[in-house]
Amino acid sequence: MLVASCVFFAAACRGLSPGHAEPESLPPTWSLGANVVPSYGDRGMVASNDSLATAVGVAILERGGNAVDAAIATAFALAVTHPEAGNIGGGGFMLVRNADGTTAALDFRERAPAAATREMFARPAAPRNASTHTHLAAGVPGSVAGMLAALDRFGTISRQQAIAPAIALARDGFIVDATFRDGIAGQRARIAPHAGAGLFLPGGEPPALGATFRQADLARTLELVARDGPAAFYRGPIADLIVAEMRRGGGLITAQDLAAYRVTWRTPIRTTYRGHTVIGMPPPSAGGVAVAATLNILETFDPLPQFGTARHAHLLAAAQQRAFLDRNELVGDPDASAVPTERLISKEHARRMARTIDPSRAASTRAARAAAREGNETTHIAVADRFGNVVSLTTTINDIYGSGVFVSGAGFFLNDEMDDFASRPGAVNADGIVAAEANAIAPGKVMTSSMAPTIVLDREGRVLLVLGSRGGPRIISSVAQVIVNVIDHRMSLKDAMRAPRVHHVVSPDSLWYEPGDFAPAVIDSLRVMGYALRPIRTDTLPYIGRVIAIARRGAGWEGVVDPRYAGSAKGY
Ligand code: GLY
Repeated sequence: MLVASCVFFAAACRGLSPGHAEPESLPPTWSLGANVVPSYGDRGMVASNDSLATAVGVAILERGGNAVDAAIATAFALAVTHPEAGNIGGGGFMLVRNADGTTAALDFRERAPAAATREMFARPAAPRNASTHTHLAAGVPGSVAGMLAALDRFGTISRQQAIAPAIALARDGFIVDATFRDGIAGQRARIAPHAGAGLFLPGGEPPALGATFRQADLARTLELVARDGPAAFYRGPIADLIVAEMRRGGGLITAQDLAAYRVTWRTPIRTTYRGHTVIGMPPPSAGGVAVAATLNILETFDPLPQFGTARHAHLLAAAQQRAFLDRNELVGDPDASAVPTERLISKEHARRMARTIDPSRAASTRAARAAAREGNETTHIAVADRFGNVVSLTTTINDIYGSGVFVSGAGFFLNDEMDDFASRPGAVNADGIVAAEANAIAPGKVMTSSMAPTIVLDREGRVLLVLGSRGGPRIISSVAQVIVNVIDHRMSLKDAMRAPRVHHVVSPDSLWYEPGDFAPAVIDSLRVMGYALRPIRTDTLPYIGRVIAIARRGAGWEGVVDPRYAGSAKGY
């Protein structure tokens, strides 16, 4: 308690060194998630944003399935029970670490249709909200190809076994709870103009609490995928329905786009952090690069100041600011143009960045060159099995309920991932810098992302953490902060997850913080340092990240879902 009081009431701390001999904990005044009960499992763990989907994954583990089997079954279940972000109409990134220490990264991100053009959202005639609320917003979905490719390569159960629980949930239904209902209510305007309105807004209102929500079309779609595999989605009857939907709404995705879709196996990126190994997703996601860069910069400050102090928040913010600048300007689809990944995650680059940090002043981001908007609502799954394999999997349709466009007859929403491209590439800013060229729209290209499925190994090379988040760019800052809380501040996983976070927004230049948690004196100090501060609440968009994490605990596992949002961790 002495340490915690020190952290938040700086006057009481004088004389104590900012070392981290003792684990830090949060003061009783910070109540968020105080009642969270972590889940423990001797053999394995599944954590996701929905308890039904988590239960699907655990049942697969209990029947002898491995982490990939469970992750894929959970992901298909999320497409049914958590359709605001779980999906078959979007894409994602997956990291696997096998028991033998080998790793793999799967990129099943959406791709721009062949008819997409660099200026399609920038021309004056583009419909309002074209990149977020219309048929033009959808990239060619990768989820079905990705989930089945992972199962093919690493799974031990059949496609039918992996998808059967999702089919049952779609056909037989599940009970509408407040999270499900509120998610729909918050996106009424997005959903209402499209074919999903009849199901998701019957009579103009979200389904009633306690009602059973059945999705007959989605059940049929999943049955086809279970029976015929990716061919059903990319060439068969589901492809026909997607193309028909595109024709109806003036979208770009064609039968050829769907038939041409391919996933890409990539090599995970690696960095070290205070002797630990951090394994992340390589480009086209910028998430792994930016988490690694943030940690590399922070590592140059040893030890970090105590948690909850202004100096600590300042260093987090300054490291994020520099990592985000690189992320926004330099990361794009590596198959379209070279991305300097190795340089961006190098220790030398981090040292150079760290030298630009004034310990007592914020730096303005005059150099911020790219638009900051990004959709919010990915969903993460973390799984560990009894064999020693772990999976960190993030999928998305970008905004909550994606574009709102619903594939008539097929029962699922399409993404608005085209909005993750830079829609005005080449625009020259006041500093004469060309914006986000690496992320310009081009046919077949993958838009960059902030998704950051991450695996952390301890000093002995054993898995310590498996984590990821939802929340657009706040994914990056949130994942990095949970890692720092565990490694530097030696917090319990529960406290590491519920601890107040900051997020530096490079453009417009500001520092977001969770109000009611940082001491007023800390906020005042940050203001004096030159930060433009903005409180960020847990219940209104845009949210701070919402992390899903599991951690090694002795011979077993501990799982915690971010108290800022719904979900469940379940061990076995
Ligand atoms: N659409 C959010 C992301 O990919 O980061």
